[in-house]
This record gives sequence, structure tokens and C-alpha cells, in this order.
Amino acid sequence: MKIMVVGGGGREHAIIKKLRENREIEEIYALPGNGGMKDDAVLVDIGAKDIDGIVNFAKENKIDFAVVAPDDPLVLGCVDALNEIGIPCFGPKANAAIIEGSKVFSKNLMKKYGIPTARYEVFDDMEKALSYLETAPVPTVVKADGLALGKGVIIAATRDEAKAAVRSMMENKIFGESGSRVVIEEFLEGPEVSVLSFTDGNVLVPMVSSMDHKRAFDNDEGLNTGGMGTVAPNPYYTKEVSDECMEKIFIPTIEAMKKEGREFRGCLYFGLMITRDGPKVIEYNCRFGDPETQVVLPLLESDLFTIMKAVSEGRLNETEVKFSNKAACCVIVASKGYPVKYESGFEIELPETDENSDIFVAGAKIKDGKTVSAGGRVLGVTATAKDLKTAINDAYKLTEKVKFENGFYRKDIGKKALKALEG
Ligand code: AMP
Ligand code: GLY
Repeated sequence: MKIMVVGGGGREHAIIKKLRENREIEEIYALPGNGGMKDDAVLVDIGAKDIDGIVNFAKENKIDFAVVAPDDPLVLGCVDALNEIGIPCFGPKANAAIIEGSKVFSKNLMKKYGIPTARYEVFDDMEKALSYLETAPVPTVVKADGLALGKGVIIAATRDEAKAAVRSMMENKIFGESGSRVVIEEFLEGPEVSVLSFTDGNVLVPMVSSMDHKRAFDNDEGLNTGGMGTVAPNPYYTKEVSDECMEKIFIPTIEAMKKEGREFRGCLYFGLMITRDGPKVIEYNCRFGDPETQVVLPLLESDLFTIMKAVSEGRLNETEVKFSNKAACCVIVASKGYPVKYESGFEIELPETDENSDIFVAGAKIKDGKTVSAGGRVLGVTATAKDLKTAINDAYKLTEKVKFENGFYRKDIGKKALKALEG
């Protein structure tokens, strides 16, 4: 069995390592992957957005199954194109990936089907958006409609800040065409929870919950990043909250997508906020989260490939999806200066890992036989343990052993979660 994984970050490394546990799989190709995964996959120099290149590679190499991990190729129709030449895939088709690809689509879907989310207005005319902001309550949240590398959300504390955000998106096009339409929405408060789920469009199985840490520095200071670390499970996601999410959010979402003729098969990610009025959807992603995957998959006890195949064939109900009761923590080591400006090319030496730890490489390449940094987020140092406190300790102990001169990491990943657990 030959598998191809599209994408090249830490999330893809975690997926590849988990897939390798399946004995049927002989070869895994990563398109493009990164140098830090060279022992786990064959690296193929084809970019994740090069749909024609991906399809040609799959055809020429007789790929049996493809996992399309990042948002861009999913939204661009990579799964549709691979299905067309008969290659089964894990990941939604473009008409379902739109749940992440367009915030206007997802907000309208939630409104139509009564799925709890922040109140909002949509604007494609800048003057109208600006005049709405004259009287809108603040803080408020301005979002670019399309994909914006996870940066298209601006939380504005004042009306002037909100107006500046609208101008930067609609006039100065800082996110390109993604900002020609904007959503202006109510500011919600409460702890955030990420829930990834497997769904074949009819059945939905949530994975263990997790908590991301999006800001660059300790105590949630600094700019928003792709994510500086994660823990799982998320202590705010109690049994009560999870039951409510299943009933009011998860099932209604896949039912809504089905009714719209957009059956979703793949990993549907719910970015939730647990507000005083109950859980609400902050965002949907049409894919595994990064770095959520780096704590969720190490806790998966069932075989990932079996689940992925079942999802793609619409047989998820026949498949066991079991998670361990342990906890996990992932500390991201990033290049100094990330998420703004950083240098690459620094040598990295990784410590040994054991059956309870792993280092997923997000941005590295091989130069003169050595592993060097090649990106903003570089490593995801992960440990699993019987409880969260031990997992956090173990992840940090391992992180301290990493040799990477230009690296930095947050020292407080999981602190909030521990505090919530300990009351
Ligand atoms: P997103 O790019 O959609 O993940 O949003 C980035 C972050 O912005 C989220 O993780 C939240 O912390 C925050 N955010 C997004 N929407 C809202 C909202 N309506 N109210 C408060 N915070 C929000
Ligand atoms: N960690 C957030 C995301 O993957 O979108």
C-alpha cells in the first residue's frame, strides 16, 4: 500500500508517524514534507497547492490512498481532482471545504440551521462596513471572508481600531482577495476548546479535546501565531459541555452540510468558545489543527489508517475510534522573531525520544547532512503521560534538551489548563 500525505508541517509529521503504525502501508510520500521527516516519509518536491503536480505524481506512482491535510489544497479541490482519477482520499471535497474557505458561508450556515455562534454582519462594501461601525458595540471582531493563513481575524478594542481593520482588509487588501468581503461579529468571552472530529458525512466521532495557545509569548502576550503549543484533553470540555456540543453543534453541522448537498468527509475541526450562554462556534476548519494534531494523535489507540479509509468510504459507523485516558502536551519551538521576521538555517540537534514522547518537525531541511531550521514554527516537542501535570513536565524536560540556538518557546503551555483542573 502506497500512501501520499499532502502538506509539510508538524501536523503532517504527526499524521505520518501515526500512519506508519499500520503494517499494510509500505511507503509514505510527503508532498512536500520537510527535511525533518526524512526518516518517516519519502520527500517529494511538489508544493501543497500544486494540484496538477499532486495529481500527476499520484497517477505516475500508483498511489493507493491520499491524505490531504492543509486547508489550501482542500479548498482548491485537491480531493475532487484525485477522486476523479480514482484515488480515494481522506479530506473533504471543495464544496464541503468551503466551511473553512469562506467565513461568510460558515456564518450563514450556522444562522440558517440555528447553530450557536457570535452574532454578525457581512459587508462587501467598505463604506457600509465603516458606517455600521459608527454605532457597533466594542470590542468587536473583524474577519476576512477567505483563507488568510490563520491571520485574518482582528479583535478591535475600539471603533477606530475596527475601522482601521476594515480599511486594511478591504482597501489595502492586506489579505489579498480574502478581504474583499468581511464579517464583523460580536466579541465573545470564555475559555476556548478545539475539538477535532472524524466524520464521513453521516456519523461524527469527536476526538479527544485540546487547548491551543495562539499568542507568541507567555501569559498570552504578543501577536497571534499558528499556535505555540497544545494540551489534551482540555479541562473546560466537561462531559456536560461535550453532550451539549454534540446535540447543538456537531450533529446539526453535519446534518446542515448534508442538506446543503455538501457532505463533509474528513476531519472537521470545531473551534469553540465556552461562553456563559453555552458553547458557541468561533470557527470551523476543514482539516486537522496544527498543533492540536500533535497532542491528539499520540492519544489515539485505534489504527489511524483504518479510520481514514472508513471515513472515505462512508463506513465510520463500523469502525472503532478509541482514545487513551492519558494526557498530552506539545511545546512548539519557533525561530526567534516568529511570527514576524525570523532567520532560518540554524543547526538543530534533537534528543532521543521514547514511547511516551515524540518530536514532530514543522520546519527544517537537510543541509550538508545536518538538520537546519527552515521556517517559523520549527519543532513540536510532545509528551504523553498518565496526567496533564506529568505530560507538561515531561514535554518541557525534553524541550530543554533540544539544541537549537535560534529557537524560542513559551514556558507556560498548559498552565491555564492545570489551573482549571486544580480549581
Ligand atoms: P480564528 O483565526 O478564526 O481561529 O480566530 C483567531 C482567534 O481569534 C480565536 O482563536 C479567538 O481567540 C479569537 N476570536 C475569533 N472570533 C472571536 C469572537 N467572536 N470573539 C472573541 N474572540 C474571537
Ligand atoms: N491551531 C489552530 C488551527 O490549526 O487552525
